[in-house]
Amino acid sequence: MKPIQVGLLGIGVVGTGTFNVLKRNQPEIQRRAGRGIEITMVADLDSERARAIVGEGVAVVNDARAVLANPDIDIVIELIGGYGIAKTLVLEAIAAGKHVVTANKALLAVHGTEIFAAASAKGVIVAFEAAVAGGIPIIKALREGLTANRIEWIAGIINGTTNFILSEMRSKGLDFADVLKEAQRLGYAEADPTFDIEGVDAGHKVTIMSAIAYGIPVQFDKAYVEGITKLSAQDIRYAEQLGYRIKLLGIAKRRPEGIELRVHPSLVPSKRLIANVEGAMNAVVVQGDAVGTTLYYGKGAGSEPTASAVIADLVDVTRLHTADPAQRVPHLAFQPNAMSDLPILPISEVVTSYYLRLRVADQAGVLAKVTGILAEADISIDAVLQREADEVDSDSASQTDLIILTHDCQEARMDAALARMQALPTVLQTIVRIRKEELA
Ligand code: HSE
Repeated sequence: MKPIQVGLLGIGVVGTGTFNVLKRNQPEIQRRAGRGIEITMVADLDSERARAIVGEGVAVVNDARAVLANPDIDIVIELIGGYGIAKTLVLEAIAAGKHVVTANKALLAVHGTEIFAAASAKGVIVAFEAAVAGGIPIIKALREGLTANRIEWIAGIINGTTNFILSEMRSKGLDFADVLKEAQRLGYAEADPTFDIEGVDAGHKVTIMSAIAYGIPVQFDKAYVEGITKLSAQDIRYAEQLGYRIKLLGIAKRRPEGIELRVHPSLVPSKRLIANVEGAMNAVVVQGDAVGTTLYYGKGAGSEPTASAVIADLVDVTRLHTADPAQRVPHLAFQPNAMSDLPILPISEVVTSYYLRLRVADQAGVLAKVTGILAEADISIDAVLQREADEVDSDSASQTDLIILTHDCQEARMDAALARMQALPTVLQTIVRIRKEELA
């Protein structure tokens, strides 16, 4: 059988990896897919650079629409990124009857409903393994491997840049801004790292996972997203003394009232495997009712790791594109007519435990006042740590840090208690509140 022909839109880092791995492993891939898979056309604005990467024998154009117009191309890989022209081209590719493979998490998390509807109407596949956690086959695991389960929760380190920054802050005792500069110098963080450090990239990825896990539409606009920019080395140190590490987690959790969908820094017990995922690595823990806890670990970015996921999708599409669309695995794991309308819960309704740090006047009765407010709010305390004045990063020996770990409570209740504590004249700085996940 003739190889299936693929058109590639955008040949940057991941596109180059995809081209090279596909070429290098073609015999293996062919044995798995049942026929060859060849990138025969590449569109990139920098066609000279593209030509240097792909060599002769591959058509190089700078107009992506030339790829969409080519009737010999069955699959289009979109590696442009973003919501702009990428969205237009993906919708045009679908309209032209092409299957689409994309790594574009932002596009799917925000416009996925429209894109999957268009693909279903046209009977084509939109595959997106590379959109979440790079080379880790987490989409396949959630959609197919765990299909017997009611997924209870997912918690993932799904942004390598922020995990690298947090690892460096912890191991070197440095503050966020210093590590960010170093990460940019080393090329780990983008020149504009906003999407990474503000949690947006992780928010896109956990939104996609939530849709597959619970059969709900992608709803990035309802996700709670908080990044790592306000974390201090001091809190990382205190957390460690209490047996925790701080990680930026993407969390999707099923509750009877709805789905919690959130990204924020979280304390995680140091003894959990995921707490020990360091540097730019990614990991996702999935809790299913039948399987229990499963953990997926690997490179969440990079040229060939991400290419690994892109090519896995190419093989899937090659195997399935002639199948009756009704017999294929649904885009979001659940049949489109069986989607759930379970709401995404606002952050005020999230239930979790907390780490609190209060800089207080070191006077009699201060601790009693603080714990009294928590008791009145029915918030149960798990642990309290008071640092000696000389351990506190302060010139004044009359101040101290109170660190409190709580048991689970609703966020709205914690907000109200925090407002009361903050109003105490003996609380001298803005209270630090970091959520805590036991992941038990
Ligand atoms: N910028 C992402 C990260 C990789 O740092 O993990 C692509 O999603």
